[in-house]
Amino acid sequence: MEKILITGGKKLSGMVKISGSKNASLPILVATLLTDEDCVVKNVPHLQDVETILALLRILGKRISHHNKRIRISSTYRLDSEAPYELVKKMRASILVMGPLLGRLGRVRASLPGGCAIGARPINLHLRGFRKLGAKASFERGYVQLDAPRLHGANIYLDFPSVGATENLMMAATRARGRTVIENAASEPEIKDLANFLNKMGAKIKGAGTNIIEIEGVSVLSGTVHEVIPDRIETGTFMVAAAVTVGNVAIRGADPEHLEAVITKLREAGAKITVNNKEIKVTSGKNLRATDIETIPYPGFPTDMQAQWMVLMSLTKGTSIITETVFENRFLHVGELQRMGSNIQVKGNSAIVKGVPKLSGAPVMATDLRASAALILAALAAEGRTEIFGVHHLDRGYEDIEKKLKRLGARIKRVKE
Ligand code: EPZ
Repeated sequence: MEKILITGGKKLSGMVKISGSKNASLPILVATLLTDEDCVVKNVPHLQDVETILALLRILGKRISHHNKRIRISSTYRLDSEAPYELVKKMRASILVMGPLLGRLGRVRASLPGGCAIGARPINLHLRGFRKLGAKASFERGYVQLDAPRLHGANIYLDFPSVGATENLMMAATRARGRTVIENAASEPEIKDLANFLNKMGAKIKGAGTNIIEIEGVSVLSGTVHEVIPDRIETGTFMVAAAVTVGNVAIRGADPEHLEAVITKLREAGAKITVNNKEIKVTSGKNLRATDIETIPYPGFPTDMQAQWMVLMSLTKGTSIITETVFENRFLHVGELQRMGSNIQVKGNSAIVKGVPKLSGAPVMATDLRASAALILAALAAEGRTEIFGVHHLDRGYEDIEKKLKRLGARIKRVKE
C-alpha cells in the first residue's frame, strides 16, 4: 500500500494541463460494444477506473491496444453478455455495459452494484427504463438478467436526472426499433460527449446536453475515432487548489463552459478568475468571503466538487452552509478535516462550516475519490506535514496528480506505507 506525504504552506504557482475526462471516457469506451468495427478513443486518462473498464471489455470479447492516451478497441467476433461481480463491485460504472449489450445481443446479465461509501446508489431508474424499452428483468444471487429479443422505442421519464441511467438508456435506445424520448435526462457535458461519439458511429441522437433527448433506433453502428472532452472536475479541483493556497495558477486544456457554476461561486467568494480561449487563470487574494453552495445536477454546482469546496470554506472567515442534494452520504471527508482543525457541523444533508485561521497537518484516511482530493487540498494549505492513507481512491480519478502538483511547487511525494 502507498501513502502521500505533503508539507503544506506553499503557494501554488505555474501552469497545469488538464487530462481527458474520466466520466466521459468510461461510457464512451463501453459504447464500443455496440459495433464490431474498430474504434479509436483519444485523450483517455491513465486511471485505475479506465483500466477496470478495459478489463471488463476484454472479458466481454474486445481486443484493446493502448498507446499512451490513445486506445484502439477492436472485435474478436465473440461478444459475451455477462458483467462479473468482481468487476462491478470494483467500479459501479461497469453497469454501463447493460445498455449496449441489451441493444446488441438482446440480453445481459450483470452483478447488481452494491452500495459504496457515498450512498446506496441503486439502479432502479436504469431497470425501469430498460423495461419501458421492452426488456424483462429477473434477479438471482445478486445478479440481474435482462432479456429483450428486440427493443422498441419508448417515452421514458427519469424521476431523477441520473447520469448513468441517461447514458445506459441512450446507448440501448440506439438499437431499439423506433423512437425513444428520455425526459428529465441528465444534461452533463459527459452525456453530450457520449452522444457525439454515438452519432459518429451512426446513431441518431438529438438533444443531448438538455433534459430531453430523442433517439431514433438504427440497425447497425460503425467504428469511429473520437477525442474525449477535458475533465471538468479535475479542472475545478486545481482551481480550488490555487485558491486555498492563495496561489496563482494557469489551467490549460480545460473547457470553462463546463464549469460555470464553480467559476461563479469562486468569484462570489472573491477569487480572481480570468478566462481566455481555453486557459483559466486563478489568483486569489487572502480574505475570501464565506459562500454557501448547494450541489444539484448539471448545470448546478457539481456534487463531485463539494468536498473540495468544503476545504476552501474551512479556511475562509465567516460561516458557510454546504448542502448535498445528490448523494445521501457524501460527508465522509468531514471527520478527517475536523482532525486537521476545521470547524464543521453536519446537520442532515447540510454541513455548517465556520472558517478557521489555519489547518494543521495530520495523518488522515481517504474514503472516496473526491474526499481524497479534498484531503490533498487541505494538506497543501495546512501547516506542517500530512500523511494521506488510502490513496488508491485517488488513483481512480486523478491522473499524475502528484507530478502536476509538484510542478506547481507543492511539497508532495508518494511513499510505500
Ligand atoms: C455519475 O455517477 C458520476 N460517475 C459520479 O462521479 C457523479 O457524482 C454522479 O454521476 C452525479 O453527477 C460517472 O460518471 C462514472 P447518478 P452515477 O446516477 O451515474 C441516485 C466521481 O467522483 N440514483 O446521477 O452513478 C443515486 O443513488 C463519481 O467521478 C437512483 O436512486 O450518478 C444518486 O443519489 C462519483 N437510482 C443520484 O441518483 C438510479 O437508478 C445520482 O446518481 C440511479 C441513480
